[in-house]
Amino acid sequence: MSEQDKVFIFDTTLRDGEQSPGATMSHAEKLEIAGLLDEMGVDIIEAGFPIASEGDFAAVKAISEQAKTSVICGLARANLKDIDRCWEAVKHAKQPRIHTFIGTSPLHRAIPDLTMDEMADRIHETVTHARNLCDNVQWSPMDATRTEEDYLCRTVEIAIKAGATTINIPDTVGYTAPRESAALIQMLLERVPGADEIIFATHCHNDLGMATANSLAAVEAGARQVECTINGLGERAGNTALEEVVMALKVRNDIMPYRTGIDSTKLMNISRRVASVSGFAVQFNKAIVGKNAFAHESGIHQDGMLKNAETFEIMRPADVGLSETNIVMGKHSGRAALRSKLAELGFELGDNQLKDVFVRFKALADQKKEVYDEDLIALMQTGDAEEDHIKLTALKVSCGMGLEKSAEMTLEIDGVAKSVSATGDGPVDAAFNAVKSLFPHTARLQLYQVAAVTEGTDAQATVSVRLEEDGKIATGQSADVDTVVASVKAYVNALNRLVVRREKAGGDKAEVSYKDVS
Ligand code: KIV
Ligand code: ZN
Repeated sequence: MSEQDKVFIFDTTLRDGEQSPGATMSHAEKLEIAGLLDEMGVDIIEAGFPIASEGDFAAVKAISEQAKTSVICGLARANLKDIDRCWEAVKHAKQPRIHTFIGTSPLHRAIPDLTMDEMADRIHETVTHARNLCDNVQWSPMDATRTEEDYLCRTVEIAIKAGATTINIPDTVGYTAPRESAALIQMLLERVPGADEIIFATHCHNDLGMATANSLAAVEAGARQVECTINGLGERAGNTALEEVVMALKVRNDIMPYRTGIDSTKLMNISRRVASVSGFAVQFNKAIVGKNAFAHESGIHQDGMLKNAETFEIMRPADVGLSETNIVMGKHSGRAALRSKLAELGFELGDNQLKDVFVRFKALADQKKEVYDEDLIALMQTGDAEEDHIKLTALKVSCGMGLEKSAEMTLEIDGVAKSVSATGDGPVDAAFNAVKSLFPHTARLQLYQVAAVTEGTDAQATVSVRLEEDGKIATGQSADVDTVVASVKAYVNALNRLVVRREKAGGDKAEVSYKDVS
């Protein structure tokens, strides 16, 4: 295959993905995810929106400093201040990129109230400015799929002439369909002077469930950069899922002869980490990375699988980093066995991390006879983070038929231990009331969900909590054999994320208004 067949993977989990309500990640989590993306072979990482807040700026800068091989990109609206701030953050990368955008469709033009000519001038000015700072500039006409074709061609030509090296064609509202997506790229390649000298990118949202199909259709028409996120994380119905693009190109290479530089065996691990840090669990039947993606329930399928796995599997679990064995761990399993089991599951741990996980594994194995893969995955997805403001250190609940439900609790808040006793309608309600009295807040509980990790009455409960405060949403997750402990930890996890969101909003986030796209 030639260079022509290479499709660049642009991951925007940390920017577009993080924009989904409640998916806020901490600084350390962003650095960890960026490290995994880099290691997996992602060509370009969109690390954030530096003008959005001090926190976003610091994350993009730190990711730029840490990146080994990926290009690091930051987002900027079409104004000089945004672009300067973006450059200040990404310039530390070995390979920096500035990505600037403006909404070109009639609906989006109306908001900054610019005429077509005024917007064209603005595009020329801002792309030129970005290019004077950085050799690698990406420009996006937001809502391209609802922009008049003639105006789209005109603006793309201006951006290319001003020095953009990548032109991204976003389907911002997930409105397009595969044939249309392909035709749009083909039309631009045919009509825009200089189009053959730049890379066209496709950026699809999933509102009609067609994001991945639209992205692949664009590739077939000549786009050579696919913008996507892990697990398809993103606003509303999300974005094109990275794992779907990578595996579709791998499995159907016969009809789509393009290659990516992604090590697909890392997909499962990064999917689990993103699910854990974003608080967005992966749906069971999600393609490639869902819990059931390789599970076979019906007798006929199981029978076929035993005779020849290819009867019902178009890829092997190992291709995406899923272990095929299910050696059960228990309280006699040692550190080396745990390390190798976790590595099989896609979690490569350093010595210090292993030490901490081993202590939690032993505690779990003491409570549960058999520790399954799912238990270990849940274990890896929970645990206190060093930067957490609030930690649960002690909890005792009493409940029963006809008895008062109460909770005695100690939380460590910014290093100071505080205790209280509270009552409620049930044990979880009493425990949540205790949290509220120790850490007063106005957040409203929007969702409380409990599921069993495995079968059996000694199964761990995995709990998801969603909180809302002044329009800001934060989600939290945790797992424990004690459902009330899991519930409080999930609640505390969501509160910690809310604190991060509050801190972010305290920066210059207020400046980021829609009108300022111009
Ligand atoms: O969906 C979109 O249009 C975007 C742009 C900022 C590229 O995310
Ligand atoms: Zn987007």
